[in-house]
Amino acid sequence: MSQISSFPAECNVAIIGASGGIGGAMLRLLSDDSRVANIHALSRSATDASLPKVTAGSIDLDDEHSIATAAQRAAQNDALDLVIVTSGILWEGEDLRPEKSMRELDMQRLTRLFAVNAAGPALVAKHFLPQMRKQSKTLFASLSARVGSIGDNRLGGWYSYRASKAALNMLLKTLAIEHARQWPDSVVAGLHPGTVNTALSQPYTSRTPKESLFSPETSAQHLLNVMNQLRPEDSGGVFAWDGSRIQY
Ligand SMILES: NC(=O)c1ccc[n+]([C@@H]2O[C@H](COP(=O)([O-])OP(=O)(O)OC[C@H]3O[C@@H](n4cnc5c(N)ncnc54)[C@H](OP(=O)(O)O)[C@@H]3O)[C@@H](O)[C@H]2O)c1
Repeated sequence: MSQISSFPAECNVAIIGASGGIGGAMLRLLSDDSRVANIHALSRSATDASLPKVTAGSIDLDDEHSIATAAQRAAQNDALDLVIVTSGILWEGEDLRPEKSMRELDMQRLTRLFAVNAAGPALVAKHFLPQMRKQSKTLFASLSARVGSIGDNRLGGWYSYRASKAALNMLLKTLAIEHARQWPDSVVAGLHPGTVNTALSQPYTSRTPKESLFSPETSAQHLLNVMNQLRPEDSGGVFAWDGSRIQY
């Protein structure tokens, strides 16, 4: 059985952030998918390489050299069909938490969130997009967030996270335009996974209704379904877990 039937057989896949909640769930689903031949599971910390078809490797979004090396290794034997960036941060340690007020804005928090959530995926695209297969559907997806939508911002707060995801959306749109010139069958997209029960969201979900809090497996399942539906004319857009388009 395949959940990615719109892609060619024998897909070569890379997941950046495969050690994370959503990335790990995506890894487990894709390792079980009949259309997938290889998965390059990349992150800073160790990922489960005992799954079938999985080769674990290291990548640090703060280190462009590690990104370039990981891209070369992932495409060493075959071009890539699917690249999914599931890395990202909302908080880091006790000192770097989302801002409730403008009083909490500071340079370190702003630059850290921009580095990991926007610049990191852009550098991943720089090194991975040239390694994608031509003449069949390919997808480069990066996990964004609905709170990165400027038009949808009604509550305020979380300045750095919101702005880093808005920047990511602009980077993806710009990458989509350039990439389509040589890869007309490609899709470059941002995806919102819903509110998902992972280490990233855990400190902030106490008021999330149970029915709105997805397990990583449920979210990954939804996202694979959306990826399967996306077409080249959707490239540059941001899509939620249910397939609906999110305004920028
Ligand atoms: N959970 C939610 O409710 C939710 C909602 C909306 C959007 N999202 C987005 O979904 C994505 C995945 O989130 P998650 O909930 O699965 O979080 P998670 O479980 O905390 O996983 C985050 C991943 O990011 C990787 N990462 C962090 N910093 C990195 C760096 N400098 N270099 C390389 N990898 C790095 C981590 O890997 P290592 O530490 O091993 O490197 C880990 O694999 C994020 O982009 C997040 O913004 C999540």
